[in-house]
Amino acid sequence: MKIAFLYEHPTWSDTLIAEFKHQGVALTLRNIAELSFDTDTTDQPFDAAINRINVMPSAEREPQIVFQTLHYLNWLELAGVRVINGARAHFIGASKAMQNGVFSALGLPHPRAIVIYRPADALAAADKIGYPVIIKPNIGGSGSGVARYNTRAELAETIRFGALDLGIDRSGLVQQYIQSDGYVYRVEVLGDQLFYSIRQPINEGCYNYCAADESRHPSENSDDTSDFCVHGTDRIEAFSASESIVDEVIKIVRHCGADLGGVEYLIDPNTGAPCFYDFNPYSNFVSNGEALLQFSPENRYIDFILESLGIA
Ligand SMILES: Nc1ncnc2c1ncn2[C@@H]1O[C@H](COP(=O)(O)OP(=O)(O)O)[C@@H](O)[C@H]1O
Ligand SMILES: [Mg+2]
Repeated sequence: MKIAFLYEHPTWSDTLIAEFKHQGVALTLRNIAELSFDTDTTDQPFDAAINRINVMPSAEREPQIVFQTLHYLNWLELAGVRVINGARAHFIGASKAMQNGVFSALGLPHPRAIVIYRPADALAAADKIGYPVIIKPNIGGSGSGVARYNTRAELAETIRFGALDLGIDRSGLVQQYIQSDGYVYRVEVLGDQLFYSIRQPINEGCYNYCAADESRHPSENSDDTSDFCVHGTDRIEAFSASESIVDEVIKIVRHCGADLGGVEYLIDPNTGAPCFYDFNPYSNFVSNGEALLQFSPENRYIDFILESLGIA
């Protein structure tokens, strides 16, 4: 079986790729940043593709890559290629509007949100939702463009200065602000099995969690070997997610059409109930994952991929 490995960040998949090699699995590496493709489907060189492309916009990357990727994944599927985390999963991963819709469709707790594309519409949306509100770009990642507005005046001023950031497709969510117990939680699953669950303390006013540390965008750190909280990893801890949360995450990932993925949530300090707000099809690996998780996430990921492709 010919397997393509689709990636974009120059180093984030290094350990994983090395481990595939170590296990004797041949991969054709495809850096999506350099991708052009012939639309002819008759001479498809791959039987399967593993999608490890991050949807997150970054300063060093042309935003069009996000859209080129969506076309490519859809085209691969059209050509009969089995894509691990294919077009639907990738699209939902790139659309916070869809993610919130999935939580709603599954009857799961989530923040109320209104999707806008004109910054001026944020005021009416926030009036409906009530302050404080969180405004976030539809296509996000690593907390980019996420901001909290405590009052109407604060939001109105930001709009007046043309400073409301709706990200690369200029659509965004005006979202109810969720109270938390002081942590962001993330549960990752491989199919219908728990992969791992980790949490990280929240820094007030900081929205960059679970892809990098509090201060720097991960793209500034191309030497890092991991994409999950690449700095400040001492603040990440493994925790034991309840069975019901794991079941809910499995349902979410399945509903998103993903083979594997992670879901983030906050916990209401008064009720203990989760509130889901983010789905990531791009499964992350913790820096020094083995030390934190007591198993090699790369090995488990590879086992799952090989099983999914029927070559275990
Ligand atoms: N509705 C919300 N209420 C309170 N905090 C939020 C809300 N949505 C997001 N956050 C905070 O902002 C961070 C980034 O938001 P998220 O939706 O995960 O965007 P990204 O895809 O960029 O990671 C979250 O980890 C969380 O700490
Ligand atoms: Mg997030």
